[in-house]
Order: sequence, then structure tokens, then C-alpha cells
Amino acid sequence: MTLIGPSLMCADWGKLKDSVDMLERGGVNYFHFDIMDGSFVPNFTMGPDLLKALRSYTNKPFDIHLMVQEPERYIEMFAEAGADWISIHAESKVHLQRALHKIRELNLRAGVALNPSTPLSVMDYVWDDADYVCLMTVNPGFAGQSFIPSMYKKIADLDQLIAENGSRIDIQVDGNISYETIPKVMKLGATMLVCGTSSLFNSNDLEQKAAQLTAYVNE
Ligand code: DX5
Ligand code: ZN
Repeated sequence: MTLIGPSLMCADWGKLKDSVDMLERGGVNYFHFDIMDGSFVPNFTMGPDLLKALRSYTNKPFDIHLMVQEPERYIEMFAEAGADWISIHAESKVHLQRALHKIRELNLRAGVALNPSTPLSVMDYVWDDADYVCLMTVNPGFAGQSFIPSMYKKIADLDQLIAENGSRIDIQVDGNISYETIPKVMKLGATMLVCGTSSLFNSNDLEQKAAQLTAYVNE
């Protein structure tokens, strides 16, 4: 089953609780929170207090995408705020295996996030330490960008590596996941979609958009 996760940085922040309610009624599977520090990426978004504000309104998993320079400093903070899954960028200032181990020690799912140009060889010695790989299909930092075509091959290559390693790692794709790119990325092995402006947040009727997208993905 392919999971749909709205990217809440793309939502109307003045109506976040209502948006979460509508999206959940429409059938989404988890919520994706993009955390940015203005250093690892040239942008700022949200923090742990936003998770706390929304946590009691839904039981759906909170997927935290840490686009920050020193993710290990913030793992416990987001765990306490209600995170269920945390992905960290291999390109940040991180001891990757140690950080993934720390996330799992907190009984959370651990993800490795990779920027478009980062080779998959980063995974060579952490296959057993990660539950998913977040493949950035745009350069991180902003919504509304265009899918980088070379990422199709990267998804296929990762899917093959997962098979070769006998791993059960999920492939998450993040960036311009649209009605055009979804069939292609799913066929290549993506199992977790991050959906933002191009597939969900281009209408006020989020319940209808989510239901339409859920039907499309699961048809
Ligand atoms: C970008 C974020 C994505 C983005 C998705 O750095 O990681 O989650 O918000 O938005 P769209 O779907 O518009 O690319
Ligand atoms: Zn993201």
C-alpha cells in the first residue's frame, strides 16, 4: 500500500486544525512536517510547538523531516512533541548511524533523507538502521518547485539496492509529487508520498482533494 502524507508547510497556517481534520476525513495516512533552520536550507518553517498544537487532534503518524544542520540536537525535542517518524539529512552535520539509532531508541521510525545529488552509497553501512529513505525530488527548502527528472532513475536504483540487500526499507519521495509524477514514482518503487502544492493544497476543499488523491493512488 502506498501511503499519502500531506506536507503541512503547504497548508493554510491560519486554518491548520481544520486542514488536518479535512485531510484525515479524506483518507490521508500520515502528516509530513518540514522543519527548516535557515542554515541547512535557506528557509524557516515550523517547530515542535506546532506538533504539540496539532497532536491531540489526530492519531495519524507525524513524520518529521529535519532539514537542519545539527539534527541530533533536536531528535528528543520532536519525539516529546509527538513525532512518530523522524528523517534526518545525511548531508547535515550528523553521525548518521548514531542518530538513526537514537531515533529508534525512542521507538520512532528512522529515516535517511537525501538531497537530489547525494549518491545512494550513503546507505551502504546503515541499511539495518533505517526504516525509510526520503528521496528529495526537488532541492530542499521550498514548496512549489519542479520534479528533477534524474530522480526517477534514483528511485529505481534505490528500489534495486533495497531488493539486493533484502531490506524492508520504504521509499519516500518528497517534492512536486503530482498527478503526473505519482504513477511514475509508484511504478519505480516509491511507497510513501509527500504531497504538497501540486497534488493537494491547490483547493480549499481539502477533504475532496484528499479523497480524490487517495482514490487515484489506490486505484
Ligand atoms: C521541500 C519540502 C517538501 C515540499 C513539498 O523542501 O521537503 O515537503 O513542501 O511541496 P511540493 O509538493 O509543492 O513540492
Ligand atoms: Zn519534506
